[in-house]
Amino acid sequence: PAGQARDALTVLIAAPRGFCAGVDRAIEIVERAIAKYGAPVYVRHEIVHNRFVVDDLKAKGAIFVEELDEVPDDMPVVFSAHGVPKSVPEEAQRRELTYVDATCPLVSKVHRQAERQVEAGRHIVFIGHKGHPEVIGTFGQVPEGQMTLVETVEDVADLDFTADTPLAFLTQTTLSVDDTYKIVAALKDRFPQIVGPKAEDICYATSNRQMAVKLIAPGSDLVLVIGAPNSSNSLRLVEVAERCGTSARLIQRAMDIDPAWLEGVGTVGITAGASAPETLVREVVDRLGEWRDVEEHTLVTAEEKMVFKLPRQLTA
Ligand code: F3S
Repeated sequence: PAGQARDALTVLIAAPRGFCAGVDRAIEIVERAIAKYGAPVYVRHEIVHNRFVVDDLKAKGAIFVEELDEVPDDMPVVFSAHGVPKSVPEEAQRRELTYVDATCPLVSKVHRQAERQVEAGRHIVFIGHKGHPEVIGTFGQVPEGQMTLVETVEDVADLDFTADTPLAFLTQTTLSVDDTYKIVAALKDRFPQIVGPKAEDICYATSNRQMAVKLIAPGSDLVLVIGAPNSSNSLRLVEVAERCGTSARLIQRAMDIDPAWLEGVGTVGITAGASAPETLVREVVDRLGEWRDVEEHTLVTAEEKMVFKLPRQLTA
């Protein structure tokens, strides 16, 4: 009520947070495709895992589908940032569809490594989350049976390759840095012959966002992670905060905050997954400001300058 003193609330905002270069590029690809080919443009799978991004692009003329056979013959189609199995562009070519691939270049890099390792005669152990579209896309780069998924250190113990099986490991781009380190160590321990990339394939954006949460979580009573429940990198941010001993909540937007969560809370940390727009962060800070006197601080752990080139067909 007016005139009544309100409690202070310190808000620690993690930086970097939110959109990565791959998400920026994927959204721009859809917008440019609509400008070039005219609406509607089909998009196979959520372009990035965020409802607000998807709704915004729908309003601009995108139609989202899960499979290529839902795309009419004479319509352009964009493939999502997560990447697709090889069979998808092959089928698009067979049907003579106009298609634009918005696969993040850092995911494409893993795809090429997968091909190369199989050509070199190695079986691939892939560290990732079962059922995630990126995992389905990467598995679809090599013939069936050439890649095995592990999700945990326990899964590594269950592998039954012999000591002379040529092996390579690769990883999903949006994993927990700490968990992956342990899984890779377990793999090298069991299979000293295994080869892998110099650093894991976890992308710069994923590791930077996890690092930034590690800075805000210890001093926070609650961490709010803005992101979608199917966004792998957002789920990992919740885990990272929890492992710092701080309770954390995944929210899609400000409306999801239950004021009861703030009881006894003096400091709230805020971050956003790589597919969550910055407007949602502002909305959350504003909502907190409706209840409390907010004092806002941004804690920066890294500067990001990454920008990816657009596909030539949209820049010519
Ligand atoms: Fe690419 Fe990493 Fe973003 S793989 S889409 S830069 S989260």
